[in-house]
Amino acid sequence: MKERFYVTTPIYYVNDIPHIGHAYTTIAADILARYNKLMNRDVFFLTGTDEHGQKVEKAASEKGRTPKEHADLMVENFKSLWQKLNISNNAFIRTTDINHIKTVQGLLHRLWEKKEIERRAYTGWYCTPDERFWTEKEVIEGKCPDCGRPVEQIHEENYFFLMSKYQSALIKYITDNPNYILPETRKNEVLGFLRNNTLGDLCISRPKNRLSWGIPLPFDENFVTYVWFDALVNYFSATRYLVPHPEDAKLGDFWWPAHHHLVGKDILTTHAVYWSTMLMALGLPLPKNIFAHGWWTVNGKKMSKSVGNVIDPNTMVDRYGVDAFRYFLFREVPFGLDGDFSEQALINRINTDLANDLGNLVSRFIAMAEKYFGGTIDIEFTGAGASGELEEQCAYANMNIHRKEYWSHLHFSLMLENIWNIIREANNYIARKEPWKLAKENTDQLKIVMSNIWNALRITALSLYPFMPDTSEKIWRQLGMKSLVDEAKELSPEIFEWGWKPSYEIKTSKAEHLFPRIETKK
Ligand code: MSP
Repeated sequence: MKERFYVTTPIYYVNDIPHIGHAYTTIAADILARYNKLMNRDVFFLTGTDEHGQKVEKAASEKGRTPKEHADLMVENFKSLWQKLNISNNAFIRTTDINHIKTVQGLLHRLWEKKEIERRAYTGWYCTPDERFWTEKEVIEGKCPDCGRPVEQIHEENYFFLMSKYQSALIKYITDNPNYILPETRKNEVLGFLRNNTLGDLCISRPKNRLSWGIPLPFDENFVTYVWFDALVNYFSATRYLVPHPEDAKLGDFWWPAHHHLVGKDILTTHAVYWSTMLMALGLPLPKNIFAHGWWTVNGKKMSKSVGNVIDPNTMVDRYGVDAFRYFLFREVPFGLDGDFSEQALINRINTDLANDLGNLVSRFIAMAEKYFGGTIDIEFTGAGASGELEEQCAYANMNIHRKEYWSHLHFSLMLENIWNIIREANNYIARKEPWKLAKENTDQLKIVMSNIWNALRITALSLYPFMPDTSEKIWRQLGMKSLVDEAKELSPEIFEWGWKPSYEIKTSKAEHLFPRIETKK
């Protein structure tokens, strides 16, 4: 049986349309999914939508729709964006799926039976937009400490998950499993919070008379489930009904726990604290990693509807192409840190890294191959290490690109830097070897040089695949091969090696320039 790999994105609220933040996490998950597929693993890549709760109920009523009607319409915006961004998710969960609802109720029932849930009278300060309770101490001058909007005082009976008793177990777990929360700085924030505060219990219900749009509690029909409890369960409930090969999933828990939950830094606490303790109380394994990425500002400002600077990923793809957008997001800023988005920065990357470095390299090589050999490339492989400096550079970069630690810590920008080292080295190699001179003086040497460049480009295409799947397929085909994905699936890991060549004749083909330069008005 193949090794399995399970990656998730947050499930997105359907109260609004997707923006760059949603695209960012989902592309990151796509990079992981595609890489693991290339490494011949069986991949389960889950994304979806968070459809219950007050936010969605309110957005729907403003539009004169029922919450479900609203969700049915809005979910399409996410699905179509994922297609446009070339997202390879093989499952899409909606929290209104009947199987999800049943799983949430099943787990609630289990916790109730185990006496992990208690009914209590409660007075608290509630922030409606954030759907969160705050204690008297946390509230800042009548405002939510998180978003700054006014909170209201609420007295009611509710159900509480006894989260507080897991405080020390959670601290121990995070300390014992250094990769559980990444990056390191975020892990330290969570640990700092847990060590310096007393963890409260978690209110997991809402009385129906205040909010009806939610999953009914299985043990009290007057209440619905708190939207975060419902939403977090999606990662587990999907493994019950949306996995690849559902037939054999019935035989056991093949897919849980997930390898990575990717989330933005603002929702790390709900994952690291609520979800982890929920799983502990249920006696289920914890995910292997929760990775919190940073936030994008736009031209130095926080993105907001009222400022009117929200970036619609659809527009960026229409203007600059999907791969340029994907590349920019992961090259510009190390994954985990905050970053600033500007169209000018994106254009600069396109013109330098993509048009100049990569695009020119491919088109120069193809033009020379046609001119000197009518497109036929004989791969000259005289033994590992025999091809000299370009081979060495490639081997070194390749080792970095596949480093386990880079993948476990999601060092995407470092991987891209290494790929660009190959590209730059190949460009330098052409300048040094001057194939146009060899064409006149030494055709044997020319063959070797061209076959080396072909190899460097082939390895570039393979390494770029998780980041820029369309571009790497295009390069692969221009280099004279059939299908990167199919060939890699059949042949990995030999295909990553320098000496590899296909069993059929290699005939390069000319195509349009991969990345035309973008001229900007001065
Ligand atoms: N529904 C919850 C998640 C439940 S997961 C069990 C939610 N949804 S959301 O629609 O608000 O999506 C939030 C995701 O987008 C978060 O990961 C958040 O960090 C991310 N981003 C929102 N604005 C962002 C930026 N400006 N930049 C980067 N990511 C941002 O929260």
